[in-house]
Amino acid sequence: MTELRILPAAAWGDQVAADLADRLRATPALRLCLPTGATPVPVYEALVRRVRSGEATFADATVVLLDEWVGLPPGDPARCDTRLRAQLLDRLPAPPAAVHAIDVDDPDLDAAVARHAAAAVGLDLVVLGLGMNGHVGFNEPGSLPDSPTRIVRLAASSREAAMARYGASTVPTAGITVGMDRILAAGEVWLLVTGDRKAGILRRALRDPEDPDCPASCLRRHPNLQVIVDEEAAALLA
Ligand code: GLP
Repeated sequence: MTELRILPAAAWGDQVAADLADRLRATPALRLCLPTGATPVPVYEALVRRVRSGEATFADATVVLLDEWVGLPPGDPARCDTRLRAQLLDRLPAPPAAVHAIDVDDPDLDAAVARHAAAAVGLDLVVLGLGMNGHVGFNEPGSLPDSPTRIVRLAASSREAAMARYGASTVPTAGITVGMDRILAAGEVWLLVTGDRKAGILRRALRDPEDPDCPASCLRRHPNLQVIVDEEAAALLA
């Protein structure tokens, strides 16, 4: 079942953070897959506040990163591991029990992919952003519901976003993503979407027929999907 929740933009980040804190309280050993990008920034800001105030802890939780650029140096400001550490993980009073970043610095990328595919087995909750072309993680258009965790060629728009939107020091050569198979096998999936620039692709993901050209549309087959959006992103859903 797909549940669509439309929230005022000002309340959106804190509400998603409150829901994450609830999940952590209910299941302290939560196995959680987290995205980066601009969308979750207000969520992580609010979640850090809630965890610091003692509402929840990551101390027993496992965090699995959703995706990563290939070809950016360690510590690059656009790297997903750099961003998740700076925005969330390094700001927690107690670190998660385990953090599985994607080891794109391993010269054997196939081995890194295999390790990450294993880390992404049995996720309780996958949190996703939505790409302007309908991608989730780096499951770009053309990805199928059974697409595995893998190295992907990036759409030109995604490579450009690394530099233009996230300040990468160079253009990434590829991406590694948790596969659609692992996302669809998770206990719960939350798709987070904000801002009027995403209104058109959100409408396509939710209202048009399921289509691998818009991988987010395939999430609707998940039995427990929440699409949590602000009013601006929801503008074309009527
Ligand atoms: C990026 C990432 C995704 C992210 C999406 C949306 O390229 N690969 O994991 O969720 O695109 O990004 P943003 O939230 O910055 O719009």
